[in-house]
Amino acid sequence: MRECLAFDDVLLVPGYSEKRSRVGEDIDTSTNVGGIELRIPLISSPMDTVTEADMAIALGRLGGMGVIHRFASMLERIEMGNQILDAHYDSGIKVPLVLAVGVTEEEKNIARELMEHFHSNLDMISIDIANGHHILMKEMVEYIRGLDGEIPIMAGNVATESGFRFLADLGVNAVRVGIGGGSICKTRIQTGFGVPTLTSVMDCARAKKDYPNVAILADGGIKYPKDVSISLKAGADAVVLGSLFAGTKEAPGGIIYTNDGKAWKNYRGMASAAVQEDKRGGMKPGTTAEGVSQLTEYKGSLERVITDFIGGLRAGMAMVNASNLQELRSAEMIKITSAGISESHAHGTRR
Ligand code: IMP
Repeated sequence: MRECLAFDDVLLVPGYSEKRSRVGEDIDTSTNVGGIELRIPLISSPMDTVTEADMAIALGRLGGMGVIHRFASMLERIEMGNQILDAHYDSGIKVPLVLAVGVTEEEKNIARELMEHFHSNLDMISIDIANGHHILMKEMVEYIRGLDGEIPIMAGNVATESGFRFLADLGVNAVRVGIGGGSICKTRIQTGFGVPTLTSVMDCARAKKDYPNVAILADGGIKYPKDVSISLKAGADAVVLGSLFAGTKEAPGGIIYTNDGKAWKNYRGMASAAVQEDKRGGMKPGTTAEGVSQLTEYKGSLERVITDFIGGLRAGMAMVNASNLQELRSAEMIKITSAGISESHAHGTRR
């Protein structure tokens, strides 16, 4: 059997560095995702507790990109898109406009309307389904390409090199890689299928030489800033974050206080029973929920989380004298044991 690795199984090896400061201009974290230039390689998940207009605007201004989820009506998606464009007119800072769609006949109509409404203001369309290595995905990509041969397409999710090649051959520009790794995901437990996200990224990166312009987006299971550096080293062009952004002020929904005075926000998998009940009038008979609904600790502003994550990435880049993400990829990645991972976490004497 093949051995596959998760983020916690590996670390990157430090090297000689001449970086005198981690905040200096000579450490460049920018990346290109399907033709969109991002200053930081972070994307927020298309989920109804993560990315609506406020998140997309705030993250866009900080140099990343939010993908507006598809669990909203066409009019709601147009409204959110309009808010993103307004933010651009108000501030002059360009915020990427990326809208998600599904693959049903109804979603085809919605995609067509969204593309007609926003024209060239729509920077990318994201086709978002649980298993993107699928005939319905192929039909949807062909449908969109039939309407517009140029519009950048993000598609996913896939877990394998053949899934990546399937989407790249269809002509998509960015692929979300990761099945079953999400913090609210039950896919692996319910189905027995999935691949640790790190291994999926490494496998897809092998195909990258044939599709240098197709971005790999590591999606699912990012818990710490280290996981961003590791994903990028493994070949990702950017990472997709759900839980880490769901706890911020800019994520949809209010703060929930528990009796002990702690602050939380709702975070739920898009395949959870809670979403099906809210949006689809209940679970389809004979299906099982592949996501859970939970509370995530309130983390304050998005900027705080980004500072922590990009601070970690820049410090990591300085560890190997990397001036850009391509140079970070020359770092050596090593496999560690469970003793290694417990040594990695802060573990001084506890009071
Ligand atoms: P997280 O950053 O570990 O919380 O993972 C977020 C990712 O989980 C999303 O970007 C999706 O790819 C995936 N996801 C979202 N909802 C579900 C679900 O209900 N089941 C399985 N995976 C999900």
